[in-house]
Amino acid sequence: MKKVITYGTYDLLHYGHVNLLQRAKELGDYLIVALSTDEFNWNMKQKKCYFPYEERKRLLEAIRYVDLVIPENSWEQKISDVKEFKVDTFVIGDDWEGKFDFLKEYCEVAYLPRTPEISTTQIKEDLKK
Ligand code: CTP
Repeated sequence: MKKVITYGTYDLLHYGHVNLLQRAKELGDYLIVALSTDEFNWNMKQKKCYFPYEERKRLLEAIRYVDLVIPENSWEQKISDVKEFKVDTFVIGDDWEGKFDFLKEYCEVAYLPRTPEISTTQIKEDLKK
């Protein structure tokens, strides 16, 4: 069984997220999403989530492409996650192009094109108008 892992915040779940998850799952048989915790988002990414971790997790678990959701607590956990879950492929959107090439020592690394025009930040901005 080929295992794929991806990382992200997935706040205010939108179709750009679903497109990414669908293509990630097509690269293997089992998709793990490492979902940023509220603390990690706030402390490391300076992002405040609208939906708390448990709700973002429940939404992801309701998507047919997602097999397992685990917490992302730090930038450093990727190598140990890949080893622990015997991951074959690491996937992320191409806004991160090149940033995780150090994982190529441990698994395949794929950067997928983002869906144009939509993002959680954009949704928040548009709703302010
Ligand atoms: N993603 C994507 N296409 C989009 C938006 C996101 O492919 N239009 C991907 C990202 O590249 C990442 C995953 O979805 O692999 C989770 O992205 P996340 O940062 O949680 O979502 P964004 O909508 O980009 O949120 P923000 O605006 O807060 O960065």
